[in-house]
Amino acid sequence: MKITVVGSMSTDFVVTTKVKPNQGETVFGEKFSTAFGGKGANQAVAASRLGVDVAMVGAVGKDDFGTEIVANLVKNGVDVTCVERVTHTESGSAHIVLYENDNSIIVIPGANNEVKPAAMTKFQSQLLASDLVILQNEIPQETNEAIIDFCWQNGIKTLLNPAPARSIAKEYIEKLTYLTPNEHESAIIFPDQSRSEVLAQYPNKLIITLGAMGAIYHDGTKEEIIPAFEVQPVDTTGAGDTFNAAMATALLQGLKMSEALRFANLAAAISVQGFGAQGGMPTLEKMKEQKQYEKAWDFE
Ligand code: RIB
Ligand code: NA
Repeated sequence: MKITVVGSMSTDFVVTTKVKPNQGETVFGEKFSTAFGGKGANQAVAASRLGVDVAMVGAVGKDDFGTEIVANLVKNGVDVTCVERVTHTESGSAHIVLYENDNSIIVIPGANNEVKPAAMTKFQSQLLASDLVILQNEIPQETNEAIIDFCWQNGIKTLLNPAPARSIAKEYIEKLTYLTPNEHESAIIFPDQSRSEVLAQYPNKLIITLGAMGAIYHDGTKEEIIPAFEVQPVDTTGAGDTFNAAMATALLQGLKMSEALRFANLAAAISVQGFGAQGGMPTLEKMKEQKQYEKAWDFE
């Protein structure tokens, strides 16, 4: 079983503060740290920790950040043969402000914007060797579209986690196997339809994540909410990435959607208890240690 993630890799610059500055105001915060991030890399690491054979496709700069990003992927067992190092721009970064119970992020794509459709010839064989290709919205839209087309033509499953929010043509939604927006992203993708309408339109394809509430989808007969596990979060950065990777892993192992979402909810609940996007991401062993872990999830 093999997953290829085509997407972003970044360094997260994280500031923790109790007070939000108003416009033009300066405040003192508590703490600064760097962490590995980027939605693509996060999802690749999360799937790898859950035991999947994962390859990353994307670009970093020739700077030290790029070197460390690649080393971190290798350390987490991710195949980096298709990670390019570009000379003319810096590695991607995300500038994160962590408040008590929420966060805000500014992303500077840098090298992540250099993942162009033209480079696809270089990693086509990687895509063809995959059971599932995972995409997010931190590389150019035209690249995502080219990959969705290619995978569609070659019978390879695709999952698009449309974060951060941007619209996508219906043609591509049709070609995707899974689409996993949160409520805000869903409203941007489907501006003229109610949640229930779109869920019914895309049964077992569209999964709308509801944060602390869990996730909702339509199973072909009815809507189903899979509630999240209740935990005290330390850092929710990357929870969505863990959710997506865990859901993909479980589905590839043959679990049905409701079970895959339960598995994903548990992985995400564990992940928010560690600092940094990748800090709390569980291994399969860690998942199995949880009292909420279910025998029905056991992978062969
Ligand atoms: O999903 C979380 C990620 O989004 C962070 O790691 C940060 O890099 C942002 O892009
Ligand atoms: Na975390």
